Amino acid sequence: MKKIFNANITKKDVGSIVTLYGWVAKKRDLGGVIFIDLRDRSGIVQLLIKPENDNYSLASSLKNESVLKVTGTVALREKANPNLKTGEIEIEVSDLVLLNTSNDLPFEINDDVKALEDTRLKYRYLDLRRNSLKEKIILRHEIVKTIREYLNDHDFIEVETPILCKSTPEGARDYLVPSRVNKHKFYALPQSPQIFKQLLMIGGMERYYQVARCFRDEDLRADRQPEFTQIDMEMSFIEEKDIQDIIEGMMKSIFSKIKNIELELPFLRMTYDEAMDKYGSDKPDLRFDLPLHDVSDIFKDSDFTVFKEALKDGIIKCLVINDQSDLLTRKKIDEYTEFVKVYKAKGLAWTKYNDEYNGGISKFLNDNEKKCLKEQLNLKNKDVIFFVCDKKKVANIALGELRNRLAKDFNLIDTNKYSFLWVTDFPVFEWSDEENRYMACHHPFTAPKDSDVDMLLTDKEHCKAKAYDIVLNGYEVGGGSIRIHQAAIQKKMFEALGFSLEEAKEKFGFFLEAFDYGTPPHGGLALGLERLVMILSNTTNIKDVIAFPKTASASDLMSKAPSIVDEKQLDELYLRLKD
Ligand code: AMO
Ligand code: AMP
Repeated sequence: MKKIFNANITKKDVGSIVTLYGWVAKKRDLGGVIFIDLRDRSGIVQLLIKPENDNYSLASSLKNESVLKVTGTVALREKANPNLKTGEIEIEVSDLVLLNTSNDLPFEINDDVKALEDTRLKYRYLDLRRNSLKEKIILRHEIVKTIREYLNDHDFIEVETPILCKSTPEGARDYLVPSRVNKHKFYALPQSPQIFKQLLMIGGMERYYQVARCFRDEDLRADRQPEFTQIDMEMSFIEEKDIQDIIEGMMKSIFSKIKNIELELPFLRMTYDEAMDKYGSDKPDLRFDLPLHDVSDIFKDSDFTVFKEALKDGIIKCLVINDQSDLLTRKKIDEYTEFVKVYKAKGLAWTKYNDEYNGGISKFLNDNEKKCLKEQLNLKNKDVIFFVCDKKKVANIALGELRNRLAKDFNLIDTNKYSFLWVTDFPVFEWSDEENRYMACHHPFTAPKDSDVDMLLTDKEHCKAKAYDIVLNGYEVGGGSIRIHQAAIQKKMFEALGFSLEEAKEKFGFFLEAFDYGTPPHGGLALGLERLVMILSNTTNIKDVIAFPKTASASDLMSKAPSIVDEKQLDELYLRLKD
């Protein structure tokens, strides 16, 4: 049976008899005539039941969300409703079957729903009936469909990789699954299919993709879920530019099909160092400019203690917000000062400019500093300058976050724009204060730049990688790299990360061994599907694009997972619970 979807019925169908299935979205009893909005996946169509109709008493007894089978004739409406796709027609009902009824609802099914998010998550199946959520889930499907078509056309093959596997080091905590058959042993759920996709390259697959579920036990945020989906890809015999070209083509095809927008290629490119220096972020939102400036030189002889102290082992960076000195009240500035402290800045120095400098630190500026600042920052009246002085990383990150905050608060973001950017040349290593050692910035299989191979053990701080992220509107929507394909360099990398040869063998022995059997040069990338769908559906909440998402505490309010298990199950797994 081919289902007739409500939204596909048009004026052209007037006179034909149709059978429809759906839910009662709304019922109105207007002077004896009953109108019902019948909702199916595609939308709403109006049903008309007159008093003389045999189905009248059934129709008048119907409650919202009852499930109906309706047969009727498509008719032209007396007065069209321009707000509805099917607003020109209605269905004169000849047969009505009540397939099921519904209890009173915990919340109304409409787009300006007022119910708390927790209630909506508990009754997710009802929330899914709401247009705005349903449309996002359908959009997600359309995007995945477009991606599959594109990759299939570019010689990629789809391969599934295991969910019960050995832990892969992507930097988050693993979800573990105890093995019943292998006493006291555990599987890990994949943080990504990284090792498997590389093994597929060694296995000669050349071009792989997968719509891959990944699991990471990490602190959740508005753009992070414990399980999420990657469009995971890997290619052999390529360079960085080849995989970037494939992704650009894929984005072009998605935007063209889904948004009717023709993206201009190639996308902008910026190295990691440039992005951090200029925007204080490795995923800068370029829908607005608002760059950071390094003004350390101007203040090298400053008498202002805060600057003087900071310059001993740090820098002074600033950003200028134009034309807003009136709106930037003391209270607002105090709020921003608290905001930057969240990112470890010790404070936020500021001054306004209006022919003269006034407020904040203006009293500490000497004439030469005033002149140089005006020149370097191209100051105009009513500008406000914010400074953070600190170690380079702190100053950049705090001001980078302030940059995003100011752009939001002062409406500097062109929300109709889609701004893509490749951030390239990431560092190989990243210092971790928690672990007190260098960790892999991306993952331990990322190839260093050819020129930096010899620095792996001697100059970790400056070692750069063949690693790239794709950024869209300030979100990291994907990341990838060229991989190490020579066993000797991979071993050196493990050594640089502080794994002993034994540890490396224990953890990745099978993988290292595979490198000895003719590994092709290869590389790849994984897109965060949810983030892409979020941006394309104008939401900032990742839950909106997942049919059954989890809360910030990684629980499912509907099924109540995670839950307590029987003693017997624990026994079978040789597990005992600790307090
Ligand atoms: P990475 O860890 O950068 O790379 O992940 C790739 C992309 O996945 C998305 N992402 C997430 N989305 C939602 N919730 C999460 N918790 C989450 N974590 C990551 C991001 C990110 O850019 N194996 C490598 C890829 C490779 O090298 O090919 C990897 O997983 O959009
Ligand atoms: P203080 O002398 O500590 O009262 O600081 C004077 C001004 O400098 C205040 O506006 C502080 O917020 C600001 N300030 C303090 N430390 C820093 C810093 N590291 N970077 C920028 N501004 C700072």
